Amino acid sequence: MGKEKMGFWVVGVLVLVLILGSSATNDDRQQRWRKAMMSGETTGSSMLINRVPSSIVLPLHGNVYPIGFYNVTLNIGQPSKPYFLDVDTGSDLTYLQCDTPRSQCTEAPHPYYKPSNNLVAWSDPICQYLRTSSDKGGENPGPCYYEVVYADGGSSFGILVKDAFNLNFTSEKHQSPLLALGCGYVQHPSGTYHPIDGVLGLGRGKPSIVSQLSGLGLVRNVIGHCLSGRGGGFLFFGDDLYDSSRVVWTPMSPNAKYYSPGFAELTFDGKTTGFKNLIIAFDSGASYTYLNSQAYQGLISLIKGELSKKFLSEALDDHTLPICWKGWKPFESVRDVKKYFKTFALSFMNGGKSKTQLEFPPEAYLIISSKGNACLGILNGTEVGLNDLNVIGDISMQDRVVIYDNEKQLIGWAPGNCDRLPRSRSIII
Ligand SMILES: *[C@@H]1O[C@H](CO)[C@@H](O)[C@H](O)[C@H]1NC(C)=O
Ligand SMILES: *[C@@H]1O[C@H](CO)[C@@H](O)[C@H](O)[C@H]1NC(C)=O
Ligand SMILES: *[C@@H]1O[C@H](CO)[C@@H](O)[C@H](O)[C@H]1NC(C)=O
Repeated sequence: MGKEKMGFWVVGVLVLVLILGSSATNDDRQQRWRKAMMSGETTGSSMLINRVPSSIVLPLHGNVYPIGFYNVTLNIGQPSKPYFLDVDTGSDLTYLQCDTPRSQCTEAPHPYYKPSNNLVAWSDPICQYLRTSSDKGGENPGPCYYEVVYADGGSSFGILVKDAFNLNFTSEKHQSPLLALGCGYVQHPSGTYHPIDGVLGLGRGKPSIVSQLSGLGLVRNVIGHCLSGRGGGFLFFGDDLYDSSRVVWTPMSPNAKYYSPGFAELTFDGKTTGFKNLIIAFDSGASYTYLNSQAYQGLISLIKGELSKKFLSEALDDHTLPICWKGWKPFESVRDVKKYFKTFALSFMNGGKSKTQLEFPPEAYLIISSKGNACLGILNGTEVGLNDLNVIGDISMQDRVVIYDNEKQLIGWAPGNCDRLPRSRSIII
Protein backbone atom coordinates (compact mmCIF):
# COMPACT_ATOMS: atom_id res chain seq x y z
CA MET A 1 0.00 0.00 0.00
CA GLY A 2 2.64 2.47 1.07
CA LYS A 3 -0.01 4.95 2.05
CA GLU A 4 -0.26 4.17 5.73
CA LYS A 5 1.70 6.28 8.11
CA MET A 6 4.91 4.89 9.41
CA GLY A 7 7.29 6.80 11.63
CA PHE A 8 10.08 4.34 11.45
CA TRP A 9 13.19 5.73 9.85
CA VAL A 10 14.95 3.51 7.39
CA VAL A 11 17.64 5.48 5.71
CA GLY A 12 18.99 6.66 9.01
CA VAL A 13 19.97 10.13 9.90
CA LEU A 14 22.58 11.81 7.80
CA VAL A 15 24.30 15.00 8.59
CA LEU A 16 25.17 16.79 5.44
CA VAL A 17 27.83 19.37 4.98
CA LEU A 18 26.19 22.23 3.22
CA ILE A 19 27.83 25.17 1.71
CA LEU A 20 26.53 27.94 3.85
CA GLY A 21 24.67 30.74 2.15
CA SER A 22 27.13 33.45 1.24
CA SER A 23 24.88 36.40 1.96
CA ALA A 24 25.98 38.69 4.76
CA THR A 25 22.77 38.21 6.72
CA ASN A 26 23.31 34.49 6.75
CA ASP A 27 26.89 34.80 8.02
CA ASP A 28 25.66 37.22 10.61
CA ARG A 29 23.13 34.78 11.86
CA GLN A 30 25.72 32.02 12.09
CA GLN A 31 27.87 34.29 14.21
CA ARG A 32 25.07 35.17 16.55
CA TRP A 33 24.10 31.53 16.81
CA ARG A 34 27.60 30.52 17.72
CA LYS A 35 27.92 33.11 20.48
CA ALA A 36 24.58 32.24 21.98
CA MET A 37 25.53 28.60 21.92
CA MET A 38 28.54 29.24 24.11
CA SER A 39 26.52 31.05 26.75
CA GLY A 40 23.89 28.34 26.42
CA GLU A 41 26.40 25.70 27.43
CA THR A 42 27.03 27.47 30.72
CA THR A 43 23.33 27.54 31.47
CA GLY A 44 23.17 23.86 30.57
CA SER A 45 25.75 22.73 33.08
CA SER A 46 24.26 24.76 35.93
CA MET A 47 21.08 22.76 35.39
CA LEU A 48 22.72 19.53 36.45
CA ILE A 49 20.87 18.92 39.66
CA ASN A 50 20.50 15.93 41.89
CA ARG A 51 18.36 13.15 40.54
CA VAL A 52 14.86 13.32 41.87
CA PRO A 53 12.29 10.69 41.10
CA SER A 54 9.86 12.57 38.94
CA SER A 55 7.97 12.05 35.73
CA ILE A 56 6.36 14.05 32.98
CA VAL A 57 2.87 13.10 31.81
CA LEU A 58 1.50 14.45 28.53
CA PRO A 59 -2.01 13.88 27.17
CA LEU A 60 -2.27 12.43 23.66
CA HIS A 61 -4.81 13.15 20.95
CA GLY A 62 -5.63 11.07 17.92
CA ASN A 63 -6.55 7.49 17.07
CA VAL A 64 -5.61 4.64 14.75
CA TYR A 65 -8.55 5.16 12.42
CA PRO A 66 -9.60 7.47 10.84
CA ILE A 67 -6.92 9.95 12.08
CA GLY A 68 -4.01 7.51 11.80
CA PHE A 69 -1.70 8.93 14.45
CA TYR A 70 -1.39 10.25 17.98
CA ASN A 71 -0.12 13.75 18.69
CA VAL A 72 1.17 15.53 21.75
CA THR A 73 1.28 19.25 22.48
CA LEU A 74 4.64 20.63 23.61
CA ASN A 75 5.38 24.21 24.59
CA ILE A 76 8.72 25.21 23.15
CA GLY A 77 10.65 28.48 22.91
CA GLN A 78 11.22 31.67 24.84
CA PRO A 79 8.46 32.77 25.23
CA SER A 80 7.03 29.31 24.67
CA LYS A 81 4.46 28.51 22.02
CA PRO A 82 2.42 25.33 21.61
CA TYR A 83 3.19 22.81 18.86
CA PHE A 84 1.49 19.56 17.86
CA LEU A 85 4.02 16.77 17.45
CA ASP A 86 3.62 13.28 16.04
CA VAL A 87 4.80 10.78 18.71
CA ASP A 88 7.39 8.46 17.18
CA THR A 89 9.32 5.79 19.07
CA GLY A 90 10.75 4.72 15.70
CA SER A 91 13.05 7.74 15.32
CA ASP A 92 15.40 9.70 17.60
CA LEU A 93 15.26 13.32 16.60
CA THR A 94 12.60 15.85 17.58
CA TYR A 95 12.10 18.55 15.01
CA LEU A 96 9.73 21.42 14.31
CA GLN A 97 8.94 22.84 10.92
CA CYS A 98 10.99 25.97 11.00
CA ASP A 99 10.55 29.49 9.74
CA THR A 100 13.68 30.55 7.87
CA PRO A 101 13.98 32.67 4.73
CA ARG A 102 14.40 29.68 2.44
CA SER A 103 12.11 27.20 4.19
CA GLN A 104 10.09 24.62 2.29
CA CYS A 105 7.59 23.44 4.84
CA THR A 106 4.30 21.59 4.65
CA GLU A 107 1.00 22.75 6.07
CA ALA A 108 1.08 23.04 9.87
CA PRO A 109 -1.54 23.73 12.56
CA HIS A 110 0.54 26.55 14.11
CA PRO A 111 2.83 29.28 12.76
CA TYR A 112 6.24 27.73 11.97
CA TYR A 113 8.79 27.67 14.78
CA LYS A 114 11.16 30.63 14.78
CA PRO A 115 14.56 29.13 15.65
CA SER A 116 16.48 30.30 18.67
CA ASN A 117 19.94 31.56 17.85
CA ASN A 118 21.37 28.89 20.12
CA LEU A 119 23.05 26.63 17.61
CA VAL A 120 24.23 23.09 18.38
CA ALA A 121 27.88 22.67 17.42
CA TRP A 122 29.17 20.02 15.05
CA SER A 123 31.29 18.68 17.91
CA ASP A 124 28.31 18.23 20.27
CA PRO A 125 27.79 14.53 21.15
CA ILE A 126 24.21 14.75 19.86
CA CYS A 127 25.46 15.92 16.48
CA GLN A 128 28.17 13.26 16.51
CA TYR A 129 25.50 10.63 17.13
CA LEU A 130 23.54 11.81 14.11
CA ARG A 131 26.55 11.63 11.85
CA THR A 132 26.90 8.58 9.65
CA SER A 133 30.15 6.69 9.29
CA SER A 134 30.76 8.30 5.92
CA ASP A 135 31.08 11.78 7.38
CA LYS A 136 32.67 10.89 10.73
CA GLY A 137 36.16 11.92 9.70
CA GLY A 138 37.53 15.43 9.68
CA GLU A 139 36.93 18.50 11.71
CA ASN A 140 34.12 20.84 11.00
CA PRO A 141 33.75 23.89 13.19
CA GLY A 142 30.32 24.69 11.80
CA PRO A 143 26.77 24.04 12.87
CA CYS A 144 25.03 20.68 12.82
CA TYR A 145 22.89 19.82 9.83
CA TYR A 146 20.68 16.76 9.89
CA GLU A 147 18.44 14.82 7.60
CA VAL A 148 15.83 12.26 8.68
CA VAL A 149 14.07 10.07 6.14
CA TYR A 150 11.09 8.08 7.37
CA ALA A 151 9.97 4.71 6.08
CA ASP A 152 6.79 6.19 4.63
CA GLY A 153 8.75 8.55 2.38
CA GLY A 154 8.48 11.71 4.46
CA SER A 155 11.66 13.57 5.40
CA SER A 156 13.02 16.57 7.21
CA PHE A 157 16.26 18.41 6.60
CA GLY A 158 17.51 21.21 8.82
CA ILE A 159 19.84 22.43 11.50
CA LEU A 160 20.08 21.58 15.22
CA VAL A 161 19.34 24.32 17.73
CA LYS A 162 18.76 24.37 21.48
CA ASP A 163 15.64 25.88 22.94
CA ALA A 164 13.58 25.85 26.12
CA PHE A 165 11.03 23.07 26.58
CA ASN A 166 8.35 24.09 29.05
CA LEU A 167 7.62 21.02 31.11
CA ASN A 168 5.44 20.19 34.11
CA PHE A 169 6.77 17.42 36.32
CA THR A 170 4.68 15.13 38.54
CA SER A 171 6.70 16.48 41.48
CA GLU A 172 4.71 19.65 40.74
CA LYS A 173 7.83 21.40 39.63
CA HIS A 174 7.87 23.38 36.45
CA GLN A 175 11.10 23.63 34.47
CA SER A 176 12.25 24.87 31.09
CA PRO A 177 15.47 23.01 30.26
CA LEU A 178 17.33 23.81 27.05
CA LEU A 179 17.18 20.79 24.77
CA ALA A 180 18.47 20.16 21.26
CA LEU A 181 15.86 19.94 18.52
CA GLY A 182 15.84 20.13 14.76
CA CYS A 183 14.80 23.31 13.04
CA GLY A 184 13.51 21.62 9.90
CA TYR A 185 13.54 23.87 6.90
CA VAL A 186 12.98 21.41 4.08
CA GLN A 187 10.20 18.90 4.68
CA HIS A 188 8.87 16.39 2.21
CA PRO A 189 5.45 15.08 3.13
CA SER A 190 4.85 11.35 3.31
CA GLY A 191 2.19 9.43 1.41
CA THR A 192 -0.39 9.98 4.14
CA TYR A 193 -0.15 13.59 4.61
CA HIS A 194 -1.55 15.35 7.66
CA PRO A 195 -0.86 18.83 8.99
CA ILE A 196 1.60 18.61 11.89
CA ASP A 197 4.13 21.01 13.43
CA GLY A 198 6.82 18.39 13.87
CA VAL A 199 7.84 14.98 15.19
CA LEU A 200 8.66 13.98 18.78
CA GLY A 201 11.44 11.42 18.34
CA LEU A 202 11.51 8.99 21.26
CA GLY A 203 13.94 6.36 19.97
CA ARG A 204 16.93 4.87 21.81
CA GLY A 205 19.51 7.39 20.60
CA LYS A 206 21.20 10.33 22.29
CA PRO A 207 19.15 13.00 20.44
CA SER A 208 15.91 11.80 22.08
CA ILE A 209 14.36 14.44 24.34
CA VAL A 210 14.12 11.91 27.16
CA SER A 211 17.77 10.95 26.84
CA GLN A 212 18.60 14.66 27.08
CA LEU A 213 16.33 15.16 30.11
CA SER A 214 17.95 12.18 31.77
CA GLY A 215 21.39 13.65 31.04
CA LEU A 216 20.30 16.74 32.96
CA GLY A 217 19.14 14.57 35.87
CA LEU A 218 15.49 15.54 35.44
CA VAL A 219 13.84 12.18 34.70
CA ARG A 220 15.05 8.64 34.15
CA ASN A 221 15.48 7.61 30.54
CA VAL A 222 12.22 5.68 30.46
CA ILE A 223 9.37 6.32 28.02
CA GLY A 224 5.87 4.94 28.26
CA HIS A 225 2.66 5.32 26.34
CA CYS A 226 -0.93 4.31 26.80
CA LEU A 227 -2.93 4.69 23.55
CA SER A 228 -6.66 4.48 24.09
CA GLY A 229 -8.81 2.50 21.69
CA ARG A 230 -11.43 5.22 22.15
CA GLY A 231 -8.89 7.82 21.01
CA GLY A 232 -6.42 9.88 23.02
CA GLY A 233 -4.37 8.49 25.87
CA PHE A 234 -1.14 9.66 27.44
CA LEU A 235 2.62 9.62 27.17
CA PHE A 236 5.03 9.65 30.09
CA PHE A 237 8.75 10.08 30.71
CA GLY A 238 10.30 8.68 33.90
CA ASP A 239 9.91 5.53 35.96
CA ASP A 240 7.85 6.39 39.03
CA LEU A 241 4.33 6.00 37.63
CA TYR A 242 4.11 2.22 37.51
CA ASP A 243 4.71 -0.82 39.65
CA SER A 244 7.44 -2.63 37.77
CA SER A 245 6.37 -6.03 39.13
CA ARG A 246 3.07 -5.79 37.23
CA VAL A 247 4.75 -5.26 33.88
CA VAL A 248 5.78 -8.08 31.54
CA TRP A 249 9.41 -7.24 30.71
CA THR A 250 11.62 -8.51 27.94
CA PRO A 251 15.21 -7.42 27.17
CA MET A 252 15.83 -4.97 24.35
CA SER A 253 17.90 -6.39 21.58
CA PRO A 254 21.28 -4.74 22.28
CA ASN A 255 22.36 -4.17 18.69
CA ALA A 256 19.17 -2.78 17.22
CA LYS A 257 18.83 0.95 16.64
CA TYR A 258 15.11 0.68 17.30
CA TYR A 259 13.07 -0.72 20.19
CA SER A 260 13.23 -4.42 19.57
CA PRO A 261 12.51 -7.21 22.04
CA GLY A 262 14.39 -9.56 19.73
CA PHE A 263 13.01 -12.59 17.93
CA ALA A 264 9.51 -13.94 18.28
CA GLU A 265 7.42 -16.88 17.29
CA LEU A 266 3.88 -16.44 15.99
CA THR A 267 1.14 -18.48 17.66
CA PHE A 268 -2.49 -18.51 16.55
CA ASP A 269 -5.27 -19.38 18.96
CA GLY A 270 -2.66 -20.80 21.31
CA LYS A 271 -1.09 -23.10 18.70
CA THR A 272 2.28 -22.85 17.00
CA THR A 273 2.25 -21.74 13.37
CA GLY A 274 5.79 -22.51 12.29
CA PHE A 275 6.61 -18.82 11.87
CA LYS A 276 9.68 -18.32 14.05
CA ASN A 277 12.62 -15.96 14.39
CA LEU A 278 10.55 -12.93 13.46
CA ILE A 279 12.51 -9.73 14.17
CA ILE A 280 10.17 -7.38 15.99
CA ALA A 281 10.26 -3.61 16.57
CA PHE A 282 7.82 -1.34 18.38
CA ASP A 283 6.96 1.88 16.54
CA SER A 284 4.37 4.33 17.85
CA GLY A 285 4.85 6.29 14.62
CA ALA A 286 3.23 3.47 12.62
CA SER A 287 -0.57 3.33 12.62
CA TYR A 288 -0.76 -0.36 11.69
CA THR A 289 1.26 -3.51 12.31
CA TYR A 290 3.49 -4.98 9.61
CA LEU A 291 4.54 -8.59 9.18
CA ASN A 292 6.99 -9.87 6.62
CA SER A 293 5.48 -11.40 3.52
CA GLN A 294 5.56 -15.05 4.69
CA ALA A 295 4.19 -14.43 8.17
CA TYR A 296 1.59 -12.04 6.71
CA GLN A 297 0.48 -14.66 4.18
CA GLY A 298 0.41 -17.31 6.90
CA LEU A 299 -1.65 -15.19 9.26
CA ILE A 300 -4.15 -14.26 6.56
CA SER A 301 -4.68 -17.94 5.70
CA LEU A 302 -5.29 -18.78 9.37
CA ILE A 303 -7.75 -15.91 9.81
CA LYS A 304 -9.57 -16.73 6.57
CA GLY A 305 -9.67 -20.40 7.49
CA GLU A 306 -11.54 -19.51 10.65
CA LEU A 307 -13.88 -17.10 8.87
CA SER A 308 -14.94 -19.56 6.18
CA LYS A 309 -17.12 -21.24 8.79
CA LYS A 310 -18.75 -17.95 9.74
CA PHE A 311 -21.08 -15.28 8.40
CA LEU A 312 -18.51 -12.84 7.11
CA SER A 313 -17.52 -12.33 3.50
CA GLU A 314 -14.73 -10.29 1.98
CA ALA A 315 -15.77 -6.71 1.16
CA LEU A 316 -13.93 -6.27 -2.13
CA ASP A 317 -15.41 -2.82 -2.70
CA ASP A 318 -13.92 -1.43 0.54
CA HIS A 319 -10.42 -0.07 -0.04
CA THR A 320 -9.85 1.31 3.45
CA LEU A 321 -7.18 -1.36 3.96
CA PRO A 322 -6.14 -4.30 1.71
CA ILE A 323 -8.49 -6.80 3.38
CA CYS A 324 -11.97 -5.99 4.75
CA TRP A 325 -14.91 -8.20 5.67
CA LYS A 326 -18.59 -7.38 5.71
CA GLY A 327 -21.44 -8.82 7.70
CA TRP A 328 -25.18 -8.80 6.96
CA LYS A 329 -25.37 -5.32 8.40
CA PRO A 330 -22.69 -2.68 9.00
CA PHE A 331 -20.62 -3.10 12.16
CA GLU A 332 -20.33 -0.29 14.66
CA SER A 333 -17.36 -1.40 16.68
CA VAL A 334 -14.84 -4.23 16.91
CA ARG A 335 -17.02 -5.61 19.72
CA ASP A 336 -19.60 -6.59 17.07
CA VAL A 337 -17.12 -8.84 15.22
CA LYS A 338 -14.89 -10.00 18.07
CA LYS A 339 -16.51 -13.40 18.27
CA TYR A 340 -15.57 -14.27 14.68
CA PHE A 341 -11.86 -13.67 15.18
CA LYS A 342 -9.20 -15.47 17.22
CA THR A 343 -6.39 -14.07 19.31
CA PHE A 344 -2.87 -14.58 18.03
CA ALA A 345 0.36 -13.85 19.87
CA LEU A 346 4.05 -13.18 19.53
CA SER A 347 6.12 -15.19 21.92
CA PHE A 348 9.56 -13.82 22.81
CA MET A 349 12.44 -16.03 23.83
CA ASN A 350 13.67 -13.58 26.49
CA GLY A 351 17.28 -14.57 26.02
CA GLY A 352 16.35 -18.24 26.42
CA LYS A 353 15.35 -17.83 30.07
CA SER A 354 11.56 -17.68 29.93
CA LYS A 355 8.94 -16.82 27.38
CA THR A 356 6.94 -13.61 27.36
CA GLN A 357 3.87 -13.15 25.21
CA LEU A 358 2.39 -10.19 23.45
CA GLU A 359 -1.22 -11.04 22.68
CA PHE A 360 -3.22 -9.67 19.78
CA PRO A 361 -6.93 -9.93 20.52
CA PRO A 362 -9.20 -8.75 17.65
CA GLU A 363 -9.11 -5.18 19.06
CA ALA A 364 -5.35 -5.17 18.44
CA TYR A 365 -5.62 -5.95 14.72
CA LEU A 366 -9.03 -4.88 13.38
CA ILE A 367 -10.60 -1.51 12.65
CA ILE A 368 -14.18 -0.77 11.58
CA SER A 369 -14.09 1.25 8.37
CA SER A 370 -16.43 4.16 7.61
CA LYS A 371 -18.44 1.67 5.51
CA GLY A 372 -19.05 -0.52 8.56
CA ASN A 373 -16.74 -3.34 7.52
CA ALA A 374 -14.06 -4.99 9.65
CA CYS A 375 -10.62 -4.40 8.10
CA LEU A 376 -7.37 -6.14 8.91
CA GLY A 377 -4.88 -3.68 10.43
CA ILE A 378 -1.95 -6.01 9.77
CA LEU A 379 -0.12 -5.15 6.57
CA ASN A 380 2.55 -6.64 4.31
CA GLY A 381 5.86 -5.16 5.53
CA THR A 382 7.78 -6.57 2.56
CA GLU A 383 5.59 -4.49 0.27
CA VAL A 384 6.59 -1.22 1.99
CA GLY A 385 10.30 -2.09 2.07
CA LEU A 386 10.67 -3.29 5.66
CA ASN A 387 12.27 -6.52 4.43
CA ASP A 388 12.39 -8.93 7.36
CA LEU A 389 11.51 -6.42 10.04
CA ASN A 390 8.10 -6.84 11.65
CA VAL A 391 6.72 -3.64 13.14
CA ILE A 392 4.22 -3.41 15.99
CA GLY A 393 2.19 -0.26 15.30
CA ASP A 394 -0.35 1.75 17.27
CA ILE A 395 -3.26 -0.57 16.48
CA SER A 396 -1.65 -3.39 18.45
CA MET A 397 -0.53 -1.23 21.38
CA GLN A 398 -3.98 0.19 22.21
CA ASP A 399 -5.32 -0.04 25.73
CA ARG A 400 -2.06 -1.12 27.24
CA VAL A 401 0.88 0.59 28.82
CA VAL A 402 4.01 0.03 26.76
CA ILE A 403 7.26 1.00 28.49
CA TYR A 404 10.72 1.46 26.98
CA ASP A 405 13.27 1.47 29.82
CA ASN A 406 16.48 2.70 28.22
CA GLU A 407 18.39 2.48 31.49
CA LYS A 408 17.67 -1.19 32.20
CA GLN A 409 17.38 -1.94 28.46
CA LEU A 410 13.97 -3.54 28.85
CA ILE A 411 10.68 -3.27 26.99
CA GLY A 412 7.53 -3.94 28.96
CA TRP A 413 3.78 -4.05 28.56
CA ALA A 414 0.75 -4.41 30.78
CA PRO A 415 -2.99 -3.87 30.41
CA GLY A 416 -3.89 -0.30 31.32
CA ASN A 417 -6.70 2.22 31.43
CA CYS A 418 -5.58 4.81 28.90
CA ASP A 419 -8.67 7.01 29.25
CA ARG A 420 -7.69 8.51 32.57
CA LEU A 421 -4.71 10.82 32.74
CA PRO A 422 -2.64 9.92 35.82
CA ARG A 423 -2.63 12.64 38.46
CA SER A 424 0.56 13.67 40.15
CA ARG A 425 2.12 10.90 42.22
CA SER A 426 -0.49 8.36 41.22
CA ILE A 427 0.37 4.88 39.97
CA ILE A 428 -1.15 3.81 36.67
CA ILE A 429 -0.52 0.07 36.96
C1 LIG B 1 -3.34 17.39 17.98
O1 LIG B 1 -3.84 17.56 19.30
C2 LIG B 1 -4.63 18.72 19.50
C3 LIG B 1 -5.04 18.80 20.94
O2 LIG B 1 -3.94 18.99 21.76
C4 LIG B 1 -5.85 18.70 18.61
O3 LIG B 1 -6.61 19.87 18.78
C5 LIG B 1 -5.38 18.59 17.16
O4 LIG B 1 -6.50 18.47 16.31
C6 LIG B 1 -4.46 17.42 16.96
N1 LIG B 1 -3.89 17.54 15.65
C7 LIG B 1 -4.13 16.69 14.69
C8 LIG B 1 -3.47 16.96 13.38
O5 LIG B 1 -4.82 15.72 14.85
C1 LIG C 1 1.74 23.37 33.71
O1 LIG C 1 0.88 23.51 34.81
C2 LIG C 1 0.30 24.79 34.90
C3 LIG C 1 -0.47 24.90 36.20
O2 LIG C 1 -0.78 23.65 36.72
C4 LIG C 1 -0.58 25.04 33.69
O3 LIG C 1 -1.18 26.31 33.77
C5 LIG C 1 0.30 24.96 32.44
O4 LIG C 1 -0.50 25.08 31.29
C6 LIG C 1 1.04 23.64 32.39
N1 LIG C 1 2.03 23.73 31.34
C7 LIG C 1 2.22 22.79 30.47
C8 LIG C 1 3.31 23.01 29.52
O5 LIG C 1 1.53 21.79 30.41
C1 LIG D 1 3.91 -8.95 0.10
O1 LIG D 1 4.65 -8.05 -0.67
C2 LIG D 1 5.62 -8.68 -1.51
C3 LIG D 1 6.44 -7.57 -2.14
O2 LIG D 1 5.63 -6.63 -2.77
C4 LIG D 1 4.90 -9.56 -2.52
O3 LIG D 1 5.85 -10.19 -3.33
C5 LIG D 1 4.06 -10.59 -1.76
O4 LIG D 1 3.31 -11.34 -2.67
C6 LIG D 1 3.13 -9.90 -0.79
N1 LIG D 1 2.52 -10.94 0.02
C7 LIG D 1 1.19 -11.04 0.13
C8 LIG D 1 0.72 -12.17 0.94
O5 LIG D 1 0.41 -10.26 -0.37
